[in-house]
Amino acid sequence: MTSRLYEMYRPTQEEHARQAFVGALKSFVNGEMERDLVRRYHEELMPAHRERHGSEPTNRYEAIPVMESDHDYQLWCSAVYSSQDLLWETTGETVDRVLPAMDARAAELEADPQRLGTLTLAPTLQLPSPIDSVEIHRQPGGYYYRQSQADLSAAVLYMGSVEIYRNAKGFGQAAQPCDTGVGRNLATLVSSRYPDLQPTRVLDLGCGVGAMAMGLKQALPSAEVHGLDLSAPFVRFAHLWANDLGLELHMRQADAAATGYDSGQFDLIVSQILFHETWHDKLPAIMREAYRLLKPGGVFFNVDIPYQPDRIGLPEQVLNHWQVVNNGEPFWVAFAETAIRPSLIAAGFDPLHAFAEYQAVGGGREYFVFGGRK
Ligand SMILES: C[S@@+](CC[C@H](N)C(=O)[O-])C[C@H]1O[C@@H](n2cnc3c(N)ncnc32)[C@H](O)[C@@H]1O
Repeated sequence: MTSRLYEMYRPTQEEHARQAFVGALKSFVNGEMERDLVRRYHEELMPAHRERHGSEPTNRYEAIPVMESDHDYQLWCSAVYSSQDLLWETTGETVDRVLPAMDARAAELEADPQRLGTLTLAPTLQLPSPIDSVEIHRQPGGYYYRQSQADLSAAVLYMGSVEIYRNAKGFGQAAQPCDTGVGRNLATLVSSRYPDLQPTRVLDLGCGVGAMAMGLKQALPSAEVHGLDLSAPFVRFAHLWANDLGLELHMRQADAAATGYDSGQFDLIVSQILFHETWHDKLPAIMREAYRLLKPGGVFFNVDIPYQPDRIGLPEQVLNHWQVVNNGEPFWVAFAETAIRPSLIAAGFDPLHAFAEYQAVGGGREYFVFGGRK
């Protein structure tokens, strides 16, 4: 079978209609509804609280009951929760339909000695706890479902949910499904900070289904690009997708804290939204491992969410807290409360070069970027 991946993952008209509805609902609850709750907190709920108690909440734990008593907040909680259920229900319809063809295509590819790149699976890898038992984003089965079997469902579900968000934000019109622009953008961010860096071996930690590794390979065609993730379905899907795009990539299933690569192998190690989705106890070991893997002069460059408590207001912190407790984001607050620059220095990075800062990326958005040079 030679169909390209985006031809294989094609929602029917009815599936597309339901997915477009979920995307619009998510845009509304995560956008306008959230903004309105933040405004209500500042203009109504907090002043009423101050009037009654003579003081303002000073941290999110004091602000939580203030918001919980509000009917609009309760409605937001229900709407977010239900939209997440609908996300998986509607994506699941397409996945159930296309999965047999995708599984067959992956099996055919993995048996092909002519295929591009490599795929290194670790069937005996003990997934670290509690990562193994978390259903991130409440994705049914999580990222690691049926690790050892010929089943890509965890990866296709993840990819389908990303497509709903991309389409809801209007990116779907500008690019085909499975867009790799994210990796090309990262290559630009890295080269503007380190214009002298000419990466020849690149590693993407927590590469997921591979969009960023793929985009990095497109931006740096002469570099050898590797992607690593704990999830077998994800790296298998990434291997399939890379071959679909005609890209030679090297995918490995491993823990980013113990990758199995030799020391001093890479001149660029990157990650995108890995750290807020891994157990924060792992962070020091992942940073030490990245330092070990870098060549002298090599760069470690990471992009993650800018939700540090000193960066956002109390009502936004309450909304995030709700997502942590109720909506499959158990790791992000611990990450947001970790002092990243000291962690980099403790891992070996030179204090002169270690950085953790916010970078504007247009449209009023910003990334939290951090890393260092060996
Ligand atoms: C939000 S996804 C990001 C995927 C990809 N970087 C992207 O931007 O689309 C986080 C990924 O980190 C992986 N992950 C979490 N903890 C990990 C660890 N300790 N070692 C390797 N991968 C890990 C998960 O399996 C998941 O694929």
